[in-house]
Amino acid sequence: MKKKDIFTAPFVQEMEDTTANMYRLGWDERNGGNISYLLPEEEVAEYLDLHEVIRRIPTGFDAKPLIGKYFIVTGTGKYFKNVKGDPETNLGIIRIAEDGTTAELLWGFADGGRFTSELPAHLMSHISRLSVDPENRVVMHCHPTNLLAMTYVHPLDTNEFTHTLWQMSTECVVVFPDGVEVLPWMLCGTNAIGEATAECMTRARSVVWALHGLYGAGKTLDEAFGLVETVEKAATIYMLTAGLKRINTITDDQMKQLAVRFSITPRAGILK
Ligand code: 13P
Ligand code: ZN
Repeated sequence: MKKKDIFTAPFVQEMEDTTANMYRLGWDERNGGNISYLLPEEEVAEYLDLHEVIRRIPTGFDAKPLIGKYFIVTGTGKYFKNVKGDPETNLGIIRIAEDGTTAELLWGFADGGRFTSELPAHLMSHISRLSVDPENRVVMHCHPTNLLAMTYVHPLDTNEFTHTLWQMSTECVVVFPDGVEVLPWMLCGTNAIGEATAECMTRARSVVWALHGLYGAGKTLDEAFGLVETVEKAATIYMLTAGLKRINTITDDQMKQLAVRFSITPRAGILK
């Protein structure tokens, strides 16, 4: 059967639109940020010959639970601002090979490039999220300005950080009842930060990398984007009010009322 034009694929166009929006919001300066998006084989097969592997690239870690899975991912060193207009250079479609440690490139990275340096954190996080939510498909990393600023002035305790963010706008507890996990500064691009992030991802869809940025996961690009957007909005309110005397707040009791109203269960151990 004749293959469809990959440039018309909804998953390519969604990646173009999402990276453009993230850039526009100031979350992804220069090459900052990366996205991985799990694609069903049938969908990829509409556009690509699955037997045609362009290159085999070692990943440097074992992703056995993802063998045979397909991802569209951003390239290392590539700028989010350039994805729309040249997706074939800035994005790639990979399949995790039978050995679990090789990525088979099926499309993209046209200038000889390779997947994001944060692939360990992405794939390990996919494994974690899929273990608690079989519908999860997206892992997204970026450098949102106010969230990043907040990690310089707020204690890096997961419960305290989550509580503060929940207080910053009424719908936070509804959008991320699982809270945000906070990791201390760690060397990025390593398997170690990947393992730590993935461990956090078993409990929450948002993981803060102190002094660096944020990871968000979701079933769709929209859902992961909306999560990051809401966390960053809360951090913005925090930074706008941090030096000021706060005379009003959302109370724990009010958050409990929201939980009932929206049928969500706030992460345990945070509300008094
Ligand atoms: P990449 O260009 O390798 O995706 O890295 C960007 C980044 O944000 C590292 O944390
Ligand atoms: Zn980063």
